[in-house]
This record gives sequence, structure tokens and C-alpha cells, in this order.
Amino acid sequence: MKNFISVSDVENIDTLVQKALAYKTEPFKDKLLGINKRVGCLFLNPSMRTRLSTQIAAQNLGMEAVVFNVGQEGWALEFEDGAIMNGTTVEHVKDAAPIFGKYFDVLAIRTFPALKDRDDDYSEVYMNQFIRYAGVPVISLESATLHPLQSLTDIITIQEEINGLGRKPKIVLTWAPHVKPLPQCVSNSFAQWVNTWGKSDFVITHPEGYELDDQFTNGATINTNQDKALKDADFVYVKNWSSYKDYGKILCNDEGWMLTNNKLTVTNNAKVMHCLPVRRNVELSDEILDGPNSIVTRQAANRVWGAQAVLSEIIAPNFRG
Ligand code: CP
Repeated sequence: MKNFISVSDVENIDTLVQKALAYKTEPFKDKLLGINKRVGCLFLNPSMRTRLSTQIAAQNLGMEAVVFNVGQEGWALEFEDGAIMNGTTVEHVKDAAPIFGKYFDVLAIRTFPALKDRDDDYSEVYMNQFIRYAGVPVISLESATLHPLQSLTDIITIQEEINGLGRKPKIVLTWAPHVKPLPQCVSNSFAQWVNTWGKSDFVITHPEGYELDDQFTNGATINTNQDKALKDADFVYVKNWSSYKDYGKILCNDEGWMLTNNKLTVTNNAKVMHCLPVRRNVELSDEILDGPNSIVTRQAANRVWGAQAVLSEIIAPNFRG
């Protein structure tokens, strides 16, 4: 694995999932694999789970993780080629990224979309400029359009649940209300991974106008009736996203789309997932989050094993410890 930016960087999802689950059973089995290696974790935006799970994953492999909150503590970076830097940006990524590449063996980067211009965000200029100029492997800690470490962990968590099920699970990704316009990246990425994995009956449900980019959703059934979509679901993945078509806008905030125990009655006693952080009683009800169907804590805890599997593939791709 050269970089970890999307599911396209993964040769075999099941092999990577099994590797992660092996680390869950025995976290320190490859504790010398990353010795004398460093991963630089650059955050242009906030994080709790991604930041801590990546640090812990690196430590489990004997690797040092250095966190740099570029967005708060670093010089304001310029990403545009040919920019005349007479404004607020202080350092060009062309100058900064090769230096990061000398300090670190692997770079891991989180950048959010501005949600103003769809073409700008979907061109992934921040991530691509780091890949272009760093000269070392790059791991996405969430980009403008995708969140691959989250999606890998989502598949790991589903795989744990379906062992012995004996049939394809039904997975439903449902839009939920939110007070702020959020990126599409978690939902794009989840759809991309579940479709590529190809081991489920996959349904996406959202109000009219919240259609995601079909490059990610192709292969899924789209249903704008949430109650019908939820029928017989084994997993319900709850997530808000702003409109892709009317880019970055909140088109409706119908609280009737918030998942409740009553809505779950038509499912196959579905497990409920969310990447977190979650706005309680806006995106997801207390009764679900505090009830027996929620697996969000285990899902977040599993982030360590996903990150550990990816880091080990990046630093020693042929290693099968
Ligand atoms: N799910 C997730 O990426 O969480 P953080 O934003 O806290 O890293």
C-alpha cells in the first residue's frame, strides 16, 4: 500500500479487516515493526477519535506519532499553484510538505471541505498537494470527500457482528437532521467501501435533494422513504450530510428523520452505528444511543485496529506477522 486515501488503495478489504481483527486480539504482536519510524499527524481541522486512535495504533507498532495541529499552531498554508502570496497565507505547501517528508516516514493528514465550491472540494486539492510534494506515503485522516479510516473500521465492526449470520446483512445508511451543514465525506466513504466490499444488501435513504455523488453510491438502492428503507435492516448507519446537488446547503431539517426505537421496530433488531461525534436528540435519540442496539462505542474503539492495520501495511506492505 503506497498511500491510504480511498478504498482504491486497498488490494483486499477482507484481508485488511482480518489483519485489524488480529491486532484487536493481540495489539502488541508487531510491536517492533515500526521501531525507528515516525508518523506525522497533521490536523488542519479538529479531531478526537482519529487523532487518538492513530497515535495509539502507531505506538502499538513501536512507531512514534507526532501530532501537529497545523490549523491552529502552524503557519497558514497556501495550496494554489502560482498563487501570489500577498494575503493571509504564509507558507506554500510546496515548501512545507517536502520538509514534513524529511521529518517523517509517513504523513497522515486531516482536512475538511469548505462546502462553498463543489468542484474545489471534490478536486481534493489539499490532500493531492501533500501527496504531490511530501515524497513519503500519505494516509487520509479524513479529507474533503472521504474518510477511509472510518469506513474501514465500519466494515470491521460489521464483520464482527455478522460472523455466523449465514446470509448477506442488510445495511441501511440513513440521513439524519443536524443544525449545521456537514460534509458528505463519511457517507460518501461508507457507500464506497460497502459497495466495493459487496457483501451486503445496501440501501441509502435520505430526503429528496440529499442525493450523494453517484460515483460513491452506484451499487446501492436509493429510497427516499425511510420507513420502507429500514425494513428488515440488520445495521442502520446514521449520518447527516449537507446537499451535494445544492452544494453545502441544508435543504430540510425534518426531525421526523431522527432514528428512534419506534422506527427500529421494522428492522431485524438492527445494530445502530454512527461515526461520532453525534448531536444527541438532533441526529440520534438518547433512547437509541443509551439502548442495547447502539454499537457506536465499540465502533469508535475499533478505530485503533483499523489504523494499526493500515499503518502496518504502509510501513511493511509484505509483512504478515
Ligand atoms: N469519527 C471521527 O472521525 O471522529 P473525530 O472527528 O473525533 O476524529
